[in-house]
Amino acid sequence: MGTNGGGEYSLDAFRHLALGEVTSTNSECLRAAREGDPGMLWITAERQTAGRGRRGRHWASEGGNLYASLLLLDPSDAALLSSLPLAVSVAVHATLKSVLPSTAEALEIKWPNDVLIGRKKACGILLEAEMLASGQRAVVAGIGINIRYRPEDAPYGVTSLSEQGVSQGADELFACLYREMAWALKLWDHGRGVAEVTRLWREAACGIGGLIRVNLPDRSLDGRFVGIDDQGLLILEAEGRQQLIAAGDVFLL
Ligand code: BTN
Repeated sequence: MGTNGGGEYSLDAFRHLALGEVTSTNSECLRAAREGDPGMLWITAERQTAGRGRRGRHWASEGGNLYASLLLLDPSDAALLSSLPLAVSVAVHATLKSVLPSTAEALEIKWPNDVLIGRKKACGILLEAEMLASGQRAVVAGIGINIRYRPEDAPYGVTSLSEQGVSQGADELFACLYREMAWALKLWDHGRGVAEVTRLWREAACGIGGLIRVNLPDRSLDGRFVGIDDQGLLILEAEGRQQLIAAGDVFLL
């Protein structure tokens, strides 16, 4: 883990591999890690044949959208890793903010890290981690942004950037994401900067203070979305007490 206050996340510290069709850019990053890649590697693809979403779901991956994954090795101590998704969503939020026209609908983050425009999903983020034979932890942040295409059969509202008046394509959007991610990782500073990252996350978040439903693997809970703690866990007031939620699907009621 770096120790120079996030200073190693300079723009030229990252490499980028642009591919055509792959199964999943997350899988490509994990494979690179197993083969000894030192990390700080972006892999983008034009299309994915087996794009993965959260909780084992499929991520439709037609051409025209952005499919990007960033490989990091040992980005933080294990205890601080749960805040990395917040930093990633703050970077994506900043990226979309810089390309959306002023006429676009509200740009917000829905816990933990969906980026919504007009309360419709425009981007999904999937973090995956794997222990390597070297003893290092490979962490992959996979980002899918709807630019030209949006799935028709999603169980929630979806939108695309072109629908919101954005003219930039995947390459231009990636150039922006590359910069914003370097900025957000510097702020995050291996988890030491989590307070600043959570502050930015809260500023961009939707639904805080309101009623939400959280679908957990085995049940769903309705309650008031109190906020997030400094590790990025959702604080839900339900069943007469405050509960901390680490993973689940949130629906704003
Ligand atoms: C979600 O379910 O909201 C997360 C979707 C994450 C999709 C991206 S696309 C690039 C990367 N490769 C994958 O297979 N998944 C992520």
